[in-house]
Amino acid sequence: MAIHFTLFLNITLSAVVSGERLSVSGNHFLFKGEKVFLSGGNLPWIKYGYDYGNNQWAGVKAQVAKQLQMLRDAGGNSLRLWIHIQGESSPLFDENGYVIGTDSQGTFINDFQDMLNLAQSYDILVIPTLWNAAVDFDKYHRLDGLIVNPAKLTSYIKVVLTPLVRAVKGHPALAAWEIMNEPEGLLELEFNKDPCFNTFMLVTSGAGWAGWKYSYQHMLRFINWQADAIKQEDPEALVTVGVWNPKSNTNSFHMFDHYSDECLYKAGKRALGKLDFHDFHSYSFEGEFDTVAAFVHNCSDYGSTKPIVVGEFWKQQGGNRTTNQLFEYVYRHGYSGAWSWDLVNNGPDQRAGIAHIRNYTGNGKIHIDI
Ligand SMILES: *[C@@H]1O[C@H](CO)[C@@H](O)[C@H](O)[C@H]1NC(C)=O
Ligand SMILES: *[C@@H]1O[C@H](CO)[C@@H](O)[C@H](O)[C@H]1NC(C)=O
Ligand SMILES: *[C@@H]1O[C@H](CO)[C@@H](O)[C@H](O)[C@H]1NC(C)=O
Repeated sequence: MAIHFTLFLNITLSAVVSGERLSVSGNHFLFKGEKVFLSGGNLPWIKYGYDYGNNQWAGVKAQVAKQLQMLRDAGGNSLRLWIHIQGESSPLFDENGYVIGTDSQGTFINDFQDMLNLAQSYDILVIPTLWNAAVDFDKYHRLDGLIVNPAKLTSYIKVVLTPLVRAVKGHPALAAWEIMNEPEGLLELEFNKDPCFNTFMLVTSGAGWAGWKYSYQHMLRFINWQADAIKQEDPEALVTVGVWNPKSNTNSFHMFDHYSDECLYKAGKRALGKLDFHDFHSYSFEGEFDTVAAFVHNCSDYGSTKPIVVGEFWKQQGGNRTTNQLFEYVYRHGYSGAWSWDLVNNGPDQRAGIAHIRNYTGNGKIHIDI
């Protein structure tokens, strides 16, 4: 009897799983058929580059669990966290920069799955960010090889990304994949006659702060191929990229959207390699937001057909506003989510902001049961 009952339960559960994932409908998110606003924060790591693989997860899991619990208690529903970063401990590279494994001890995929299971137990959706270009600590040229060399990128996709997506596809706590944090940090600023790859107009924008290393042609191929690989394996998966400022990701305000479906395809030629929503970061400088920033506009001003999340912000560069005001602004101006920076180092203040909006309903519900 018990065995039959268990079997029946498993079948029932797997049958409903696909309808219970986060999805996009027009310019907002749906979860279990209802409009949802993603409210939460960036973890974004416990040990930078050393949280997953090589049995590292076992050592940080309790701290992540504590963060998930505090986030849930504050009324948050989602968490952005960083995975490979610049290849510090995963994936596993050979001496020529080709990917030959997930990690040297082979625990990476289990660690990742366990992280999702843990998040589900706290009713928190996870947005894993695979790579980071906001700094240049890539002394062994690991990430570098994947960006400039198609054969090396192919090795990563075959050996790690596709098997990883296969292992976790349909997991209800997996909200979306973010390919990279702030590609503009390592952008080369140069004239190109193709507007998709022309970065000349970003020369005074602050882009390239970590080093002028990569053209958009290479960056966009890197993103296009990974987005395509994810969707090949899991057509319903959502994919995004986290831009440092909306300036590179909108056609409004005399800017150019380098991440349009057309530009991504042009760079990588892979048809599924498109993005499903925007992740805009928004920081003020000397107390003032620039004229393109999320905090001085309504979401609709960007003219996008996709949802927009404000995926990084904090009061230290928040235009003199309080954290509560920042969360409230994002909720009330048509955006689809707010993730503050960051829960480990600025947790109490951010959780207060998350709690401030926890019962709001006009722009999507926040409390969800996963
Ligand atoms: C924020 O405060 C700074 C310093 O007091 C001031 O210069 C700036 O104008 C203020 N910005 C806004 C948006 O009020
Ligand atoms: C947002 O839209 C509302 C309604 O149209 C308008 O009153 C408000 O001024 C707009 N806010 C910004 C920052 O543009
Ligand atoms: C949100 O609703 C809960 C349950 O009704 C209530 O206890 C809490 O005080 C409310 N929080 C805010 C910030 O309004």
